[in-house]
Amino acid sequence: MRTLTGIQPSGTLHIGNYFGAMLPAIEAQARGECFYFIADYHSMTSLFEPVERRKNTLGVALDWLALGLDPQRSVFWRQSDVPEVTELMWILGTLTPMGLLERAHSFKDKTAKGISANFGLFAYPVLMAADILLYDTHLVPVGKDQKQHVEMTRDIAIKFNQTYGETFVVPESQIRDDVAVVPGLDGQKMSKSYGNTIDIFGEEKATRKKIMGIVMDSRTPQEPKPDADKNLAIQLLKLVAPADVANDLENRLCTGGLGYGDLKKALFEHYWNFFAPARARRAELAADMDYVQRVLDDGAKRARAVASDVLQRARKASGLA
Ligand code: ADP
Ligand code: TRP
Repeated sequence: MRTLTGIQPSGTLHIGNYFGAMLPAIEAQARGECFYFIADYHSMTSLFEPVERRKNTLGVALDWLALGLDPQRSVFWRQSDVPEVTELMWILGTLTPMGLLERAHSFKDKTAKGISANFGLFAYPVLMAADILLYDTHLVPVGKDQKQHVEMTRDIAIKFNQTYGETFVVPESQIRDDVAVVPGLDGQKMSKSYGNTIDIFGEEKATRKKIMGIVMDSRTPQEPKPDADKNLAIQLLKLVAPADVANDLENRLCTGGLGYGDLKKALFEHYWNFFAPARARRAELAADMDYVQRVLDDGAKRARAVASDVLQRARKASGLA
């Protein structure tokens, strides 16, 4: 049973990414074989700064390693270090109907927002199908927004198998709707596109300021607040503080006597402590980028061993080899 997922190096990761995607991925390492990669080819559809891309890619690598991705146990690599994926993309593209790509939500959403489309953006789901099929993947854990892309991958795999004979494993998506949506500083879903994030590895002063700036209502500290469970700071606190501490603060807010300023201070402290071990680990790793590079190189080697076998199978089946 092989699990595979990709993460775009499109910016700084926030605690919504951590609790929604990274923590489940890190926990999955205990259950089976995991293949995780940094989707730098995909980032080319929306980011056109080479320096940024390189910086984000290494930043995301540091984040994952610091947070518990274990490179002994899992295969972790940079997508573009296994360029075989682009050949498979071509092969799969010839079996992908235009209509299928025209119906992709992510493509439609982006063009509706006025982002001018390039071929890469249109072909994005075919590259994603190649990512998945190249590694004989069984399970693809993704957020809801990516479900359609995994369904397209299945359609493309089935079409290939029907046209050229059984070649690819037909994967299943594993949709994480059991993990709660982490709210952002304004109460909407936390997302880098809404500018309402708390970064996992944010700078101390800036993050304290962000948290202390969360807007609350004007009730006095003494006033009981029966809706304490809906309070944004309480919801975030439940993610980063021990359960008894979070419950205690929730009760005090509920019965009256706890001010919002003290609550936000507690939230900042617990957030800061929660990520302290990972922060220290990240600083250590950042001081040894040769190690990080070696991890990615070694991951690419292991990924490539699987990829070349599968690509060979696809070439043979389609009459190329
Ligand atoms: P963003 O919305 O900040 O651009 P991405 O779309 O890059 O985040 O998401 C990367 C992963 O993190 C996805 O698997 C997504 O489901 C998860 N994720 C993002 N924001 C949240 C959130 N607020 N709560 C839970 N999971 C989230
Ligand atoms: N499209 C995914 C996202 O934006 C990232 C991704 C690229 C991916 N290739 C993948 C995810 C293959 C799962 C499997 O989140």
